[in-house]
Amino acid sequence: MRSYTLTAPAKINLYLEIIGNRPDGYHELAMILQSIDLADQIEVRSLSVDTIRVHCNHPQLPTDKSNLAYRAAELMTTQFPEAFSKYGGVEINVKKHIPVAAGLAGGSTDAAAVLVGIDLLWKLGLTQSELEELGATLGSDIPFCVAGGTAIATGRGEQLSPLPSLDHIYIVLAKYRSLEVSTVWAYKTYRQQFGSSYLRDESLAARASAVHSGEMVKAILKKDATEIAQKLHNDLERVVLPEYPQVLQLRELFANQQGVLGTMMSGSGPTVFALTESEQQAQAVKLKIREAIPDEDLELFVTRMTTHGIIIRNS
Ligand code: C5P
Repeated sequence: MRSYTLTAPAKINLYLEIIGNRPDGYHELAMILQSIDLADQIEVRSLSVDTIRVHCNHPQLPTDKSNLAYRAAELMTTQFPEAFSKYGGVEINVKKHIPVAAGLAGGSTDAAAVLVGIDLLWKLGLTQSELEELGATLGSDIPFCVAGGTAIATGRGEQLSPLPSLDHIYIVLAKYRSLEVSTVWAYKTYRQQFGSSYLRDESLAARASAVHSGEMVKAILKKDATEIAQKLHNDLERVVLPEYPQVLQLRELFANQQGVLGTMMSGSGPTVFALTESEQQAQAVKLKIREAIPDEDLELFVTRMTTHGIIIRNS
């Protein structure tokens, strides 16, 4: 086959707890990640020349090495040089639907799709865990994007324990197009402001394992949307909300809508999401938010939880 088309879903954080510093400069996390139906389409195609080309329908996205999808392809060429010389270069077409720089892992999921696509193009037969390991070298969220569904993520976010999948809960997403929050800034500021309250290193394992038996996991096991919504948590809100009044405003607006079971910022933001029990309720909430904030800079989406990571559409 000379080309594959893949669907690459976004994620939201149902739970994000920062439990310590790591010697590598990252933070030790305890998260619960959830795939959602909002997805990019990625096409990977063999080229007769030994080069990597990225095209994207989103004008603001780079198509050079600063794009994670490019770096994913480059990683495959260095890891599998024989396949690279046998099959040639790769052209990647990214159709963006996921908001950019949003805390929804849009770049990470595109990179995950490139790894899966090149594995197919080059007939490498990599296992899911091999793909996840490769992904982890590029970004902390990429292993989850390969796997998808509902999962506990610890370590940098790359160590995954799958949970029973959820797909019956609807989501309204809100993001100001022009608003970006630097993930590096968010973690650094959290460390400066709250780092002294971290537990000592020897307690990290206990803290990470606490999430496995915690209230959110119990709610997920029951598939109870109301309880899941009540247990939403994100430590990064402590630094992002005071600094970005627009995010705080969205958070408060969502919380006051009828039908909203719970609301939270995703990842390091600035996307805010709200959970509802039905699509009808989600559409009604979207309408209310649009009425309250007619600003076209605000993007609104209705989506739902989904059970899968990268899907191979056709070849
Ligand atoms: O792994 P990734 O490149 O996606 O992470 C982006 C940034 O987020 C890192 O450079 C780091 O500043 C921060 N981060 C962190 N601890 C993690 C994951 C990300 O500090 N566990």
